[in-house]
Amino acid sequence: MNGYRAQLLRFDAQGQALYDSDGLLVTERGSDGVQRIVDAGPYRAVAARHRDLPVTHWMDRLIAPGFIDMHVHYPQTDIIGSPADGLLPWLTNYTFPAETRFADPGHAAEVAHVFFTELLRNGVTTALTFATAHPASVDAFFHEAQKRGLRMMSGKVLQDRNSPDGLRDETEQSLIDSETLIQRWHGRGRLGYAITPRFAPTSSEAQLRGAGELAARHPQTWIHSHVAENRDEVRWVAELYPRTRSYLAVYEDFGLLRGRAVYAHCIHLDDTDRALMHASGAAAAVSPTSNLFLGSGFFNFRDAEAAGMLHGLASDVGGGTSFSPFRTMLAAYFVGREGQSKPGLSLAPSHLWWLHTGGAARALGLEGVVGTLATGSEADFVVLNPDAIPLLSRKAGRAENLEELLFALIVLGDDRVVERVVTA
Ligand code: GUN
Ligand code: ZN
Repeated sequence: MNGYRAQLLRFDAQGQALYDSDGLLVTERGSDGVQRIVDAGPYRAVAARHRDLPVTHWMDRLIAPGFIDMHVHYPQTDIIGSPADGLLPWLTNYTFPAETRFADPGHAAEVAHVFFTELLRNGVTTALTFATAHPASVDAFFHEAQKRGLRMMSGKVLQDRNSPDGLRDETEQSLIDSETLIQRWHGRGRLGYAITPRFAPTSSEAQLRGAGELAARHPQTWIHSHVAENRDEVRWVAELYPRTRSYLAVYEDFGLLRGRAVYAHCIHLDDTDRALMHASGAAAAVSPTSNLFLGSGFFNFRDAEAAGMLHGLASDVGGGTSFSPFRTMLAAYFVGREGQSKPGLSLAPSHLWWLHTGGAARALGLEGVVGTLATGSEADFVVLNPDAIPLLSRKAGRAENLEELLFALIVLGDDRVVERVVTA
């Protein structure tokens, strides 16, 4: 067993923040080699329950759950900040050319290394990640995640039409490759496979149908795609599927809505779509820096909450502009202020934090596994040092309650604050 003493932030199952100004987190290694939380709470009470516990003291630091990025593209690490008029020209001019290079396993391995280094520098310990259409890109991702002992999900991108040579795959082979990769990686240690049709316009009906059948045969895998991000994209899908009620309904028709199905963006949905998300157990990956950068629109937090639709936060790098959860939470706050039906929201700092930790875990079907530091969950956590940034240090020192402390971190914090990352 190991004890860690510091300020301690956890979440209960309802998403309420639990805070101890002098806390103790106790972990123990299981027979599977994974460290889990066995106790947590106020130092005095918890310490009294564990005799001879070796305790690491991190005074003036905050222990918090590792952040969870619900949607990110590791092969787009090098195209962050590539401007375009909107999503579709951005895909054509930057994204597809960059992803074509991942046919080379050496390139994939090099970028995977950089990607995981960036995630961890920013305090992100779990991510649902797009690879590319090349199976080798998935192997590179999982090899690196395995080496670092992380809980990570990814999968081969399915895109058999409206895609350039070198990236476009072949329908039947793409499904065979996905099945092979599921057998190779899903459930191996803390790794999970995501069946990943890029988005409706780049898959044939046969490929989407095959993806749905694969998802039914492997109910514990994830499904990972994009929906209703951009108005031109929505129009394109309406042209391709003139008889289908909505863009989201296309995925429903192919059996691609269920628990552990994660759809990035979900901006241009109507109430029927939101009810469908809720009823199916599918989740939205809200990607505010990407949506602001590409001019896609604003996620409606109020309507999502009202519909009971699962949702959490995501960077969506390289459409997104930062790996930092602090930047993503701040962008989500801005979107809550101005991007809603009026009046705007002032999302609570602890709620923004929950959407990037325990709420994201719940949306991913990983409740009780990561994201909250609840007893029995895996010990993935960050140690934050507000004194690493002068202005934040002043501001945090003046915080009179947890919400003020978290808001100071969200507004003024960045990777400098992430002093240490401990993974299970
Ligand atoms: N829609 C289809 N592919 C992509 C992608 O790579 N990024 C974003 N943001 N949207 C997409
Ligand atoms: Zn994306």
